[in-house]
Amino acid sequence: MPLELVDLRRGGASRYSWVPPFDFETAYENERWWDDVPYLFDDPWYVQVLEDGAEVARVELDDPGGINPEYANVPELGPERLEIQFIEVATAARGSGVGTQVVRALQERHPDRRLFAYSEEAHGFWASLGWEGFDHPEGQLLHRPLFIPRRL
Ligand SMILES: CC(C)(COP(=O)(O)OP(=O)(O)OC[C@H]1O[C@@H](n2cnc3c(N)ncnc32)[C@H](O)[C@@H]1OP(=O)(O)O)[C@@H](O)C(=O)NCCC(=O)NCCS
Repeated sequence: MPLELVDLRRGGASRYSWVPPFDFETAYENERWWDDVPYLFDDPWYVQVLEDGAEVARVELDDPGGINPEYANVPELGPERLEIQFIEVATAARGSGVGTQVVRALQERHPDRRLFAYSEEAHGFWASLGWEGFDHPEGQLLHRPLFIPRRL
């Protein structure tokens, strides 16, 4: 079953009360990533991922997102970059390829953008996508590794 990506944007709603209208009945391990009021951000951008109409994953994008210049040997990422700030698959849907499908679907939906992500303890996941990892000189314990899709 193909996944459906639904953008959740604040639009004209109040920045002091709007929360992305995810399906809050669906259980996630990191609920705290998703239920904040993102009032600090001018244009917050979330993606709800549906399979058969049911929510199976959530994504937060940061457009274009910031690159930490201290990381070694990172290729130049210009304004085409687009950061996957957070991605999470619903607890019940984990480990069955949904995360992989979500990232592939984002890449297909944004062919002119170069996605990147700082791994939040999911280094093996990003590596499994074939993305290249880059470390901060102070190491992975202090700084999350940066992952970028390899150029074809
Ligand atoms: C990371 C996450 C999004 C992956 O989604 P998923 O649907 O479970 O992953 P997939 O089934 O597509 O797995 C693809 C591969 O990544 C590996 N993988 C999945 N989660 C992983 C993790 N947390 N750490 C290391 N490897 C992981 C799988 O073992 C699989 O490897 P294989 O191809 O050798 O079998 C999901 O586990 C999740 O939501 N984790 C909690 C939140 C999180 O850590 N998000 C990442 C923030 S940067």
